[in-house]
Amino acid sequence: MHTEIKALSPQEIKEHFYNSTTDELSLLGGELCRRIHGNKVLLRGLLEYTNHCSSNCLYCGIRRDNGSVRRYRINEEMLLEAVRQGTERGIRTFVIQGGEDSEYDNARICRLVESIKEQTGGEAAVTLSCGMKSATHYRDLRSAGADRYLLRFETSDPELHKYLRGGSSLTARLRALDYIRDAGFQLGSGFMLGLPGETEETRLNNILLAQKLELDMVGIGPFIPHPETPLADAEQKDLEMSVRGVALLRLALPEAHIPATTAAGSLEKDGRERMIAAGANVLMPNLTQVEFKKDYQLYPGKICLDESGIQCIGCLGMRMKPLDRELSFLRGDAPRLEREAAPGSPA
Ligand code: SAM
Ligand code: SF4
Ligand code: FES
Repeated sequence: MHTEIKALSPQEIKEHFYNSTTDELSLLGGELCRRIHGNKVLLRGLLEYTNHCSSNCLYCGIRRDNGSVRRYRINEEMLLEAVRQGTERGIRTFVIQGGEDSEYDNARICRLVESIKEQTGGEAAVTLSCGMKSATHYRDLRSAGADRYLLRFETSDPELHKYLRGGSSLTARLRALDYIRDAGFQLGSGFMLGLPGETEETRLNNILLAQKLELDMVGIGPFIPHPETPLADAEQKDLEMSVRGVALLRLALPEAHIPATTAAGSLEKDGRERMIAAGANVLMPNLTQVEFKKDYQLYPGKICLDESGIQCIGCLGMRMKPLDRELSFLRGDAPRLEREAAPGSPA
């Protein structure tokens, strides 16, 4: 499948990074995306299950030391109700995302995954985005039935990473990604763009690291300074960096599933559309109950706070029309899985 499509080499990526305009990159990324994923944009239903977090990342609005956040933890019954509503509307991937919350310990997340699988007759894919864990914990989550795991490396600059993440090293983050891969998950990672202290070289290295990791899914987006964090006074950089990032990622990892992220849509009205045009092929309507959405503000100005996820699906369908794209309700696993499952495959 698509054997004729080759990823750009690191050297080619570097040349495009320094020499191509954003329009040129978007055109290339968008065209390649169409050749591989057609005009379909996959939907993933997001559930922000807890905003408690024991970590203190400098960039994040729900960091431990932000005392003005009203903390919540959604119970299993309500999460399963949101999954039921999403399933009824056709959603076949649920992304369970939250802070690092010891009350929602690993055993509890395993049981939640099992319940979602049971309720959806095993048809829906479950993606977890629950932070750093031990190799054993990742294996247990996989055994419970979770299919995919997202853990952004946030930035490829080791010094900046350590500074932003309370002394936690990039090496430890990359080790966690190895554990996730070894546990048998479809692997997702990514980074923010426009972090204070980031350079052009960091941005190029972000793309090259994502390629080296052979990611199945890559989520990127603009860093948006939150007023109640130590980075409150950081400069807001343009969305353009993220649009260029998406296009280069598409060229570096042609088959990857790349979302047009909510942060992009929050920074610019047409941010998600610009990402789709540049090569993104995934959208993530937020199925979290409206009563909790406003308390999960990683950054200010987050969109869709008053709309239900089901309303957003309608809205996204409309937004895709001018781009000649259609929403897809398929599970959308990593293409490599199909190949690995094919008869005669070496895997
Ligand atoms: N706690 C888990 C973790 O950190 O991996 C998962 C949830 S975390 C809130 C999801 C992502 O939000 C992070 O990986 C980070 O890239 C992004 N994020 C946090 N603060 C942000 C900000 N101020 N602007 C843009 N993205 C932000
Ligand atoms: Fe916690 Fe994730 Fe926010 Fe860091 S980015 S403070 S781990 S929720
Ligand atoms: Fe949520 Fe448009 S996508 S209101």
